[in-house]
Amino acid sequence: MNWKVLFRKKSVDHILAEASLDINANHSQGTGLKRTLGVWDLTALGIAAVIGAGIFSTIGTAAADGGPAVVFLFVFTAIACAFSAFCYAEFASSIPVAGSAYTYAYASLGEFLAWVIGWDLLMEYAIGNIAVAISWGDYFTAMLAGYGIHLPAYVTTDLLSASRGFDQVQGLLSSGVAMADLGAKGASDGAILGYHAWMDAPQLFGFHLICHVPAVLATVLVTWVVYIGIQESKRVNNIMVMIKVAVLLLVIGLGSLYVRPENWHPFAPNGVKGVLKGVSGVFFAYIGFDAISTTAEECKDPQRDLPKAMIYSLVICTILYVMVAVVLTGLVKYDKLAVGDPLAFAFGPSGAHINWIAGVVSVSAVIALFTVLLVFQLGQPRIWMVMSRDGLLPKIFSAIHPKYQTPWFSTIVAGFLVGIPCIFMNLTEVTDLTSIGTLCAFVLVCAGVLTMDPHRPKTPGRFYTPYLNGKYIFPALMILSALAVLKFNTQGVINFFSNINPDDPTAHGWDVYKHRIPYFTFMIGMVYLSWLTFKKNFSLIPLLGLASCAYLMTELGWTNWARFGIWLVVGLVIYFLYSIKHSKLNPANMKGGASVS
Ligand code: ALA
Repeated sequence: MNWKVLFRKKSVDHILAEASLDINANHSQGTGLKRTLGVWDLTALGIAAVIGAGIFSTIGTAAADGGPAVVFLFVFTAIACAFSAFCYAEFASSIPVAGSAYTYAYASLGEFLAWVIGWDLLMEYAIGNIAVAISWGDYFTAMLAGYGIHLPAYVTTDLLSASRGFDQVQGLLSSGVAMADLGAKGASDGAILGYHAWMDAPQLFGFHLICHVPAVLATVLVTWVVYIGIQESKRVNNIMVMIKVAVLLLVIGLGSLYVRPENWHPFAPNGVKGVLKGVSGVFFAYIGFDAISTTAEECKDPQRDLPKAMIYSLVICTILYVMVAVVLTGLVKYDKLAVGDPLAFAFGPSGAHINWIAGVVSVSAVIALFTVLLVFQLGQPRIWMVMSRDGLLPKIFSAIHPKYQTPWFSTIVAGFLVGIPCIFMNLTEVTDLTSIGTLCAFVLVCAGVLTMDPHRPKTPGRFYTPYLNGKYIFPALMILSALAVLKFNTQGVINFFSNINPDDPTAHGWDVYKHRIPYFTFMIGMVYLSWLTFKKNFSLIPLLGLASCAYLMTELGWTNWARFGIWLVVGLVIYFLYSIKHSKLNPANMKGGASVS
């Protein structure tokens, strides 16, 4: 095989010409996507995608681990996202087609990495939405319980959690623990719920019929809204976002009146390590501002509006998040916050004791999570649509519905891909996978900007990442960071090079060293990048985006890296068995007009 094939690129002009051909062809048949979105619709879409399970749920565990200092993690993560947002904005402005990071990689890094990113975005959109759907289902169930409607456990949990919960509780019961003491003996609420689901579920041929019905129904509903058209989605979305932001402002405003400053002490009870434990949950909270780039072909003026909307939504969400984190950790002592509904909890009896706000928060979480579902369910089919146009996926993935003018087949497949795993998959694991996959996409988008000549002629009206020469600044920052780690975390560095894992003293050999692979990879990568930057005068903003997102990836731990690796291998198998042959850049499939660079 000629390895150069893997790096064949599509020129930006080719991508734009092809997209407009496709759009015109569809319009002439009356089947094109409609251009209805303005800058504020896009900003609302961004906010809709960003504010969700992260701020309503995963913030709780992050705050319990890191203490009030988790606020700094929100700020650091926002900065890492902002660097990447500049890179996304530059690409979205120069290549305004629906494929998002996938298309940007095709133009800058070549077909193989474009496929990797397209495959990787599945983790952000579809896998991420499994997490959001389950979380939505949990809030919905809790909200119904607040109105006195109690659904049986076997229709409000997934098969995996139920079977794990059953094993854990059964183990405790058989060791003589009484049913009433399960909580005190370490069984979580989720495990007890799982046990009851397993015990109470009807059986068919010995198979326990357990299904997270609210999560599946939410997926069906959102798929239907997206299927019938962007106009409807936009209306639904704008209203929901307004409600959601208003409720968060209410939480911040009223909550600040009940803050007890003594709750902010100690500020970082578990040090930097405790704060960094929250990376996955906090990063998950920011995912989504990039998703609006998938609607490029439905924007009135994508080159002007997409960059603005990405930055606006990120800034608005960062301000809200930091304020919520400050208020939340001021309302309740940090160590009580490891609950599924921390915002409602903080206004309940353990916190401010204003029950009506706790109720409002629960209802708004149901709304907030629905809009996240909506945006990601809108984004996934559009990425497949563009991959299909390029020949990397079968043609039917880019088929547009004659009446509703949406990519109908991709929309239905995305619905199944999210809805079916909701029956049997577990929430926390999908959240971690989503974070690592999305961070990898951010890293590749920043790398894509680095490959472009910053001094190339600029087209008026487009957004470009401001150029600051990283030649000396980036290597200097890397050296300073290394010195700071050596000075302030000397013991951590000694542990790192020893063959002992302080968190698990029984581990030996590979079980110790495997956990260091992500850090080693990061360190070697940064040394190489510093050297390249010194030689090639790389631009500082994409460099910082790449370095900060790669660093956040290292904090996600070995297990996630291993799972992510397996995911990528599956993607590569599909690429080499199908996509490489069917690619439109394959000379055998090339019609006149295509250009490879
Ligand atoms: N940022 C989105 C959420 O928190 C994915 O739900």
